[in-house]
Amino acid sequence: MKKDNTPDYGSWVPVKMIVIPALLSLISLLIGLKNHGFFVGFVLFGVIALYFGISSYIFSKDDKHFQDQVEQLVMDHITWDGKGKALDIGCGNAPLSIKLAKKFPTAKVTGIDSWGKNWNYSMQVCQKNAEVAGVSDRVEFQHDSASSLPFDDDTFDLVVSNLVFHEVQDVKDKRIPLHEALRVLKTGGIFVLQDLFLLKAYFGTPQDLISLLKSWGVKEVEFIKTCDEDFIPGLVKLPFMVGALAILKGEK
Ligand SMILES: C[S@@+](CC[C@H](N)C(=O)[O-])C[C@H]1O[C@@H](n2cnc3c(N)ncnc32)[C@H](O)[C@@H]1O
Repeated sequence: MKKDNTPDYGSWVPVKMIVIPALLSLISLLIGLKNHGFFVGFVLFGVIALYFGISSYIFSKDDKHFQDQVEQLVMDHITWDGKGKALDIGCGNAPLSIKLAKKFPTAKVTGIDSWGKNWNYSMQVCQKNAEVAGVSDRVEFQHDSASSLPFDDDTFDLVVSNLVFHEVQDVKDKRIPLHEALRVLKTGGIFVLQDLFLLKAYFGTPQDLISLLKSWGVKEVEFIKTCDEDFIPGLVKLPFMVGALAILKGEK
């Protein structure tokens, strides 16, 4: 939590993405100096560290910043009456869970995350952020993996997620957490899931994905490319950043 009592939503660029190449760049520099100038590694790793450093700055923190605008894309696609239970998969420091609780004042919201080492996110910060936002009585957090959700089939009226499925490491097939998301959604429930769905290696083509969801019994599904939104700077449009961003939305 920041000192001024504003929420801390953190950065999507893991610190190690900056620190590891910066260290490798330094080591390459030392090796280069010792061997009278072989500076390719120094330059290469330096550029990578700089790229992720600048991206982290672009992505960083607070309302009204880049991350907030990307999360807002999910919110803007939700057509729900707010009655019942919502699930935010891979909630991070809970920006989306809190937005949901604020927009739907009678909804109960559950945020789950594995809170691994890659990010500086935690359940404790989620709870503090929810308190600061005045929604802690309707938002709860659980430590779980998106690959195996601890909920019965047909539990939630709304399921959302932002930039999570491609990050799930405990299963190889990134469509497994997607299947989990839809399994726990009630029949007739709404889903709005944003991720790097244009990465064919993980998800196949958009048409493949739509067919797959239909084969799982989903009634309606739409694939919306969001990586071309005007507010997204060119620098972060590489596919592994947000250049493959898309939304899957529909009704089960
Ligand atoms: C790029 S961050 C996005 C966080 C959040 N959705 C947001 O919009 O700020 C990716 C998130 O996925 C979570 N994550 C990665 N693997 C996970 C897993 N197996 N189960 C649940 N969450 C996972 C990470 O802990 C992290 O919070």
